[in-house]
Amino acid sequence: MQLDVFTLFPQWFDWFRTQRHVENAQRLGHTVDCVNYRDTTPLSGGQVDDTPFGGGAGMVLRVDVVEAALRARYDCDPVELRQRRRVIVLTPGGRQLDDPLVDELAAEPALTLLCGRYEGFDERIVEHFASDALSIGRYVLAGGELAAMVVADAVLRKLPGTLGHVDSAHEESFSAALEGAPEYPHYTRPAEHRGWRVPEILLSGHHQRVRDWRMEQSRARAAAAAADAANRSAGDLEAAPPGVTPEAPEEGR
Ligand code: 6GU
Repeated sequence: MQLDVFTLFPQWFDWFRTQRHVENAQRLGHTVDCVNYRDTTPLSGGQVDDTPFGGGAGMVLRVDVVEAALRARYDCDPVELRQRRRVIVLTPGGRQLDDPLVDELAAEPALTLLCGRYEGFDERIVEHFASDALSIGRYVLAGGELAAMVVADAVLRKLPGTLGHVDSAHEESFSAALEGAPEYPHYTRPAEHRGWRVPEILLSGHHQRVRDWRMEQSRARAAAAAADAANRSAGDLEAAPPGVTPEAPEEGR
């Protein structure tokens, strides 16, 4: 995969590139490159953004600046580029990233991630240059860089050979192997700590029973998460956070 990240802060990715699975991906022939919008801006003084028409706070990344950066990198009209390459803008209002989408992106030969800053992108970038708009959750980050790293991290670890063990990305949270459910709990030595025992079944050596127990645990977690989501959408602000098993109310509450 050829992964290109367009950003005003390419140095943020220096650390990211040293992560083991990212290094492994590069050793396998995949590329992770950063392109700085500022290097090709047609404006003077390295300008890349501007104040929003109609007023309001913040700065908006300019469409002409993004066009120049894409043209310099791919030597074609960005309007055509998106027909043969996934060009993804990172924006809090985009489609929310999930495991099936990560799988879909990991199957692409090339991805372009466009990071915005401040108030984000001129909408014409999203409308005319992007094939997708992606968000990593319902909260706002100061820029798309961390979101791009999340996308890149999730995608690169799916590429065969980037993780230490071949099965590591197979039976994991939200995978098809677990029917889209969260992963079952893991335990390691010691088998007992402060009286907290590891479930006996895991020490039993019955592989089929261990498999069944794990699937059961995954399904129970999925059911708990679904119940929590239902409570939240019903406006129950006292719902327990996901993963917290609600306890019976104490006496006197
Ligand atoms: Cl993709 N960008 C920004 N700025 N904030 C976000 C996000 C993206 N996803 C969630 N919050």
